[in-house]
Amino acid sequence: MKTHQIYLIFISLILLLLGSYIIISSNHPNKTSRDFKAWLSTIPPNPWGDTSLRALIRNLNGVVTVQQQDSWLESITEAAKSFPDFCNSGDEAKDKQEFSAFLTIIGYETSFNSANGFPCTIENGCPNCDVCSYNSLGKECLEDDLKQYFGRGPLQLSWNYNYGPFSQYYFQDDRLLSNPNILTTNQTYCWASAIWFWMTKQNYGGWCMPQVAWPGKNQCDLDCPNGPSSCKNSQCTSNHWMELQNASCHDAIHTGNGIGQVINIINGLYDCCPSSTYFAQGGHTIDRISSFVQILENWNEPIPFKVLNPAPIYDCPIALNHVNCQNIEQTGSCRAM
Ligand SMILES: *[C@@H]1O[C@H](CO)[C@@H](O)[C@H](O)[C@H]1NC(C)=O
Ligand SMILES: *[C@@H]1O[C@H](CO)[C@@H](O)[C@H](O)[C@H]1NC(C)=O
Repeated sequence: MKTHQIYLIFISLILLLLGSYIIISSNHPNKTSRDFKAWLSTIPPNPWGDTSLRALIRNLNGVVTVQQQDSWLESITEAAKSFPDFCNSGDEAKDKQEFSAFLTIIGYETSFNSANGFPCTIENGCPNCDVCSYNSLGKECLEDDLKQYFGRGPLQLSWNYNYGPFSQYYFQDDRLLSNPNILTTNQTYCWASAIWFWMTKQNYGGWCMPQVAWPGKNQCDLDCPNGPSSCKNSQCTSNHWMELQNASCHDAIHTGNGIGQVINIINGLYDCCPSSTYFAQGGHTIDRISSFVQILENWNEPIPFKVLNPAPIYDCPIALNHVNCQNIEQTGSCRAM
């Protein structure tokens, strides 16, 4: 072989290695996660002098000290290191919508109240073997609550089938399945569990929850698990059915249908069914949409709907064409219509 041929082969080899390196590293960017304390420090004080998280969520005013707020933001930042895409797409408007939706859902899961799990405590009324074991395998419930997978933390991580995968993701082992109490020993774990649930695809949809006028869920689950088409039970109509889907709340904000889809993923069988009686009830659909918009307004962000009446709330059937947010700047809420 001539010297220049060896030279060419050598150069081609280098180029090949360089090329694969670029491809591999662009598939797995070593992305820096969001610093939430720094991000929220730019929020100007509200009329009551609150800044940061307290200015975003007015429910926290007076309830939560500045020190607690800072310690949460530090824990969120620490937890987010395992989820670099959380509120960190590079599109500031979408990232702020994502954090506003995240806070909205936490607000309705826990009322930002330590009696309900926020930010690193346990579900009200638990442990209690009769009601709190949340074990789909039906395994024994231990009184010392080592086998009780009740709600813990800001998004109330619940059930063995969520504790297991979260534990594998975050700790690379099953420690939370053996002892779910480990979760509430460290605020960072609690926030990580909430962010994990938020970032992870969930199956949603199915037969609506039993409501005042419709007690049929259990029978329809048995008779027609795949929905109303070719279903023989005349009670199981499309009015009580939600399309079976699979998506994450994170994706709902960035590539999907926004807040309507988030509400559907979290609580759709109550809050989004075409026949829902919860739609305008306190704490449900309309309230959640209002809270999302309010947090964005507290952040000086525009309302993320192209029109306010009817607001385009997609992937939450009862809300489509039935939400009027026209006077939200004056009244602070959207209305059912
Ligand atoms: C909580 O967990 C984080 C992340 O693993 C760790 O850096 C921190 O030291 C822990 N804090 C305590 C009090 O154990
Ligand atoms: C959602 O779909 C993905 C595949 O796209 C699957 O891996 C995952 O298990 C599904 N989620 C749930 C909660 O079953």
